[in-house]
Amino acid sequence: MTITFIGHGYVGLVTACIFADFGNEVFVVGHTKEKVARLRKGDPIIYEPTLKELLKKNLQAKRLHFTLDFQEAIPRSEIVFIAVGTPPKDNGEADLSAIFDVSRKLAKYLKRGLTVVACKSTVPVGTNKKIEAILLKHKPKGAEIAVASCPEFLREGTAIYDTLNPDRVVIGTSSKKAAEKLIELHKSLNGKRVMTDLASAELIKYTANSMLATKISFANLISFYCEKTGADVETVLDAVGLDERIGRVFMNPGVGYGGSCLPKDVKAITQTGSNLNINVDFLKAIENINQTAQKNLIQKIKRYSPGKKIAIWGLSFKPDTDDIREAPSINIINQLLELGFKIFAYDPVANTNIKKIFVNKINLLTDQNKPLENADALVILTEWNEFKQTDLKNIKKLLKYPVIFDGRNLYNPQLMKKLGFKYFSVGRKSVL
Ligand code: UDX
Repeated sequence: MTITFIGHGYVGLVTACIFADFGNEVFVVGHTKEKVARLRKGDPIIYEPTLKELLKKNLQAKRLHFTLDFQEAIPRSEIVFIAVGTPPKDNGEADLSAIFDVSRKLAKYLKRGLTVVACKSTVPVGTNKKIEAILLKHKPKGAEIAVASCPEFLREGTAIYDTLNPDRVVIGTSSKKAAEKLIELHKSLNGKRVMTDLASAELIKYTANSMLATKISFANLISFYCEKTGADVETVLDAVGLDERIGRVFMNPGVGYGGSCLPKDVKAITQTGSNLNINVDFLKAIENINQTAQKNLIQKIKRYSPGKKIAIWGLSFKPDTDDIREAPSINIINQLLELGFKIFAYDPVANTNIKKIFVNKINLLTDQNKPLENADALVILTEWNEFKQTDLKNIKKLLKYPVIFDGRNLYNPQLMKKLGFKYFSVGRKSVL
């Protein structure tokens, strides 16, 4: 099949590479000259494990084409995917201007006969109907369209695996022909098929992401109880998670959720709910707890740090990505700077992105051990693998004081006690 992706973020680029790898002819339309030039040369722009290899392989096979020109891609495509960003506006609502803008642009170039236009971007219920109206208004005579909603559930860091092995492929459309074409295109992917209407497909994505955020905030809420009562959050959640109705996955307490999806989507579904006169107190609580998780860590540092020189490990919003969008590290560093702390930080891949925000306000180091030298304490914000089994005795040797604030519960408190650390983690007894 010949298909087009409009947008080359995590969703657009990864999915385009995979469909090209299956032997399809894939066009990707971008709107920044410099980015398209880099992609053409095999530079994926984003850091995602093994994406570079997949990109290069399919560029070399000449199945994957990057362009700025809608005209080069749209007229030859059977399916056009919209995969542009829907960032939050100031009031939390999803900003749909890019979606509507590309819909207008692509409509002009639709060929005679049927083109399926499928939206992969996360959009509020009703958006695909608006896309349909724009396409019908701007399309040439003789062009037919069928609109579909195909939300994407990939995670950063495991995006390729997730795209190949989704739990479900959701296809929302009222058009039989569109459904057939999309089923055919997705046939090499694993996972159950969910065939549904447009509105349900749109709501499935928001429901999934707000449910995931709920699990994290609930785990964090229980960690607050544990800290006040002396209970151990890991034991509590392990025991509760043994109940198959509840489960244990995605219930790790820490410094809260970040990234380009969970924070934005919780805000957007809250705003949509308000607009629909639905009581959204529950959704507001998810976000409040997330902020409290960050405040908690800052309170501990403020209270127990023996000095103002702090080492930080981990800046990306989660491991295996250089993405720092809504990363807890940004808010935490800002607040620590306001409190007069000096920051020496390390991240395996996110230093460059963090530098764009803080410029010279913090010291970024490329060696994991460097920030520790003579620092008053170590703060851990992202659970990169390389921190998990690091030489703790060496950390103790390098730090001025053996104090660790662990926002991801990486180490065993008993062991930390034995090694002579003061160790503050989440929802577990502090080692003083
Ligand atoms: C998320 C959804 O998982 C994915 O299905 C959707 O398509 C996009 O949004 P992503 O943002 O890549 O994916 O990351 P995810 O793995 O969901 O983690 C989000 C945040 O939650 C991270 O900051 C992570 O550290 C945090 N998290 C996750 C926790 O604090 N505790 C957990 O138990 C799990």
